[in-house]
Amino acid sequence: MNNAVAFDIYGTLIDTQAVLARLTDLVGDKAQAISQSWRQKQLEYSFRRGLMRDYCDFSVCTRQALIFACREHAVEAREEMVELAMQAYAELDAFADVPAGLEALHKQGMHLYAFSNGSRTAVERLLGRAGIGHYFTAVISVEDVRSFKPNPDVYAHLLRSCGLPAAQLCLVSSNPFDVLGAAHAGLRSAWLRRDPASQFDPWETQPDITLERFSDVASRLPEIYRQTMA
Ligand code: LAC
Repeated sequence: MNNAVAFDIYGTLIDTQAVLARLTDLVGDKAQAISQSWRQKQLEYSFRRGLMRDYCDFSVCTRQALIFACREHAVEAREEMVELAMQAYAELDAFADVPAGLEALHKQGMHLYAFSNGSRTAVERLLGRAGIGHYFTAVISVEDVRSFKPNPDVYAHLLRSCGLPAAQLCLVSSNPFDVLGAAHAGLRSAWLRRDPASQFDPWETQPDITLERFSDVASRLPEIYRQTMA
């Protein structure tokens, strides 16, 4: 029986949309539009920098994306405002269903790994603040390979760090590009569909499993790993 599982962080365990409340204080009714553009641009910057082999800390992608999103919506990206929004991003909470879900996995004797575009320091701080850091065997960051998801090298780094062959590690992510990256690298993959309106990319690869709730991870992981054994 496999006993390890890896989790994406931003959007999967940590609720990035929660930054909306702070953004609303800072930019008023444009907060929703800015927050959406911010997240999209943050990922786009990571993809582009990965392709260009021009790595920087993920927080740089996040900061530059925020400045872009503000300008796009005709809001002045004042230094103080950017600092406050970045601070809010560094202090995001976990989704409400995460602690109980991790506890259930922990009780099953699973080794849990956090795997993120974020730096190890940033992710460890985030998980610690959210009160869930103690569940994880290790935090694994793309920073060690100086690239970003979904470069196959970062998933290979995850496997090396866990000491597992690809077929024995499942990545749980709410981000379809991350699920596809993991599956492409040979890992088991679970798409956590946090938003019922979200769609999976109609590519030739699909997740091994789609989960509607975080609490389903513990109950359905054996199913994914059974597929591997079959
Ligand atoms: C991460 C981003 C992709 O945590 O959500 O890696």
